[in-house]
Amino acid sequence: MFTGNIISKFKGIQTPFYYYDLEVLNQTLQKLKKESGKYGFFVHYALKANADNKILDIIKSYNLGADCVSGNEVKKAIECNFSPEHIVFAGVGKSDAEINCALDNNIFCFNCESLQELEVINDLAFKKNKNAGIALRINPNVNANTHKYITTGLEENKFGINLWELATVVNAVKKLKNLQLIGLHFHIGSQIMDLNSFKSLCLRVNEIQNWFAVRKIKIENINVGGGLGVNYHEPDTNLIPDFEVYFKLFNDFLELRPRQKVHFELGRSITAQCGTLISKVLYVKNGVNTNFAILDAGMTELMRPALYQAYHKIENLSKMENGKLRMENGNQPLAIQKYDVVGPICESSDCFGKAVSLPETMRGDLIALRTAGAYGEVMSSAYNLRDRVKAFYSNEI
Ligand code: LLP
Repeated sequence: MFTGNIISKFKGIQTPFYYYDLEVLNQTLQKLKKESGKYGFFVHYALKANADNKILDIIKSYNLGADCVSGNEVKKAIECNFSPEHIVFAGVGKSDAEINCALDNNIFCFNCESLQELEVINDLAFKKNKNAGIALRINPNVNANTHKYITTGLEENKFGINLWELATVVNAVKKLKNLQLIGLHFHIGSQIMDLNSFKSLCLRVNEIQNWFAVRKIKIENINVGGGLGVNYHEPDTNLIPDFEVYFKLFNDFLELRPRQKVHFELGRSITAQCGTLISKVLYVKNGVNTNFAILDAGMTELMRPALYQAYHKIENLSKMENGKLRMENGNQPLAIQKYDVVGPICESSDCFGKAVSLPETMRGDLIALRTAGAYGEVMSSAYNLRDRVKAFYSNEI
């Protein structure tokens, strides 16, 4: 991805910063539209992955819907011209103010996670003399085989209505007159690389659909959530996720009823590979068993390694040419050393990678933390009173 002399582009920009390659984003969206379009599937972009205005404008231009998990995300989606009839609002703890905001904006659907939440939405809708479209978020008890912090579809997780409560909830919904049951919603987790998990989800959805059919309850929309993973280890050879295989799998295994619409809520697979966190080496220090490369970016700018022990490929851009390691005089590759690549924050968990192989690294070198376009900038913080990280775009620098 870093072809040409990328370093000269970054000259004069204060590090750390996020760099977004809009070409990669556009290519990803083109492929997504092509593959989902084959089956008439409708994709909502999960704003939680990246809610940068310029990124949202581009995503909106491909006519995706929006998947929001807070009142502010609903407002943001509307500000960025996502049409309310394509906005879904999920979340296990929606506040009254957030529900009211979504009702005022006439969004398409609330993905509801408990009976009590359904009752509250009904009350608030009644007060506004409105009807709220709702989908029941059902916990399908399917293992996503991903990191335990981003697994959501097991009974032990806080998300969704459990299968054993379904009958009670469905009976209650019938009596809540300001709600209209328009769909079923599922989401089993994030960064899912084992596509068999999605097949298991489809089979479970089919069973649940039968349950509703037996009770003669018509369901117009099936929302299968998001979760498609990306390749953090080899970003350059896998810049665009395999949407072809992913959507085909749902087409092959979901048993749909006539005129049923299928919805997806994808975040990471759309924005992860277009974003890179660019940082500078402040110091190189020798430890007991290792060298430390101390960066000016830390867990405040990219929290995933500290929070989930997540891997992000680390590259020393100052020692690269056209995406490859630079050669020394006489065509010898640069000597490789191991570094613990750490940030400046006063926490031992502020570490981007241990024993990372890098060409000899020195103060002032530019370091790229790849595949950071999803759950990167949005999860940044001002801990230690750090400045909020800025973003730059390939078409502007
Ligand atoms: N729908 C629901 C209900 C979700 O909870 C999520 C993500 C998505 C859709 C979008 O999933 P995606 O396509 O992006 O996998 N901060 C974590 C990821 C948390 C995901 C939360 N839910 C990380 O950095 O890995």
